[in-house]
Amino acid sequence: MRDFESEKRTAAREAVKFLKDGMIVGLGSGSSSTLAIREIGELVKNGLSIKGIPTSDKTKELAESLGIPLIDIHTVDAIDITIDGADEFTTELMLIKGGGGALLKEKIVASLSREEIIIADSSKKVAFLGKFKLPVEVIPFASAYVLGALAKLGGTGEIRKDSAGYYRTDEGNYIIDADFGLIEDPASLAGKLDHITGVVEHGLFIQLASKVIMGDGEGVMVYG
Ligand code: 5RP
Repeated sequence: MRDFESEKRTAAREAVKFLKDGMIVGLGSGSSSTLAIREIGELVKNGLSIKGIPTSDKTKELAESLGIPLIDIHTVDAIDITIDGADEFTTELMLIKGGGGALLKEKIVASLSREEIIIADSSKKVAFLGKFKLPVEVIPFASAYVLGALAKLGGTGEIRKDSAGYYRTDEGNYIIDADFGLIEDPASLAGKLDHITGVVEHGLFIQLASKVIMGDGEGVMVYG
């Protein structure tokens, strides 16, 4: 039996070894990122001097609670390294992200990053993306239109709900969890989703990850 929690922790510990004094560091969202952020908090306590850019309100709170200094994204030209998780990845470094709803800021931060390090347990590695439903962030007013547009592309989708009703992202948008079956050409689908009016962002991360560090039993496998 694989211990996914321990694989995530091993991957997180490996990823933070890339951090150096003076770096601007993107802080991902989700349970794997939380483990990395806790490691970063320890390193900061022990004297590492970095500045973090969080990818969600939750991550911001966590980083602040651990005493990790933060910097306003508007004041930087680039981010040195981002450490984030993924819902699925392929060995070609294509990802589905957004299970935790933070895909928009995660993609902005990834786009600004010189190095995007993805940490994952071994359950996240897939031959084809798409078993995990693809999160698509939409302007609420456009949600019915976007559902129709996704259907024209061969997908189905449901607006994500939580205990309060429709789930809202940090930016107040909805998320449609879309099912396209196994996605044979993620780059092509990403291009089509980019052109749907009302779609703010989607969770296909193409050519954004620099490497994936996957916990693998007691050790790690590095892709990229
Ligand atoms: C949040 C994300 C997360 O990185 C993704 O959902 C993986 O989360 P976890 O590490 O909890 O499995 O994209 O928007």
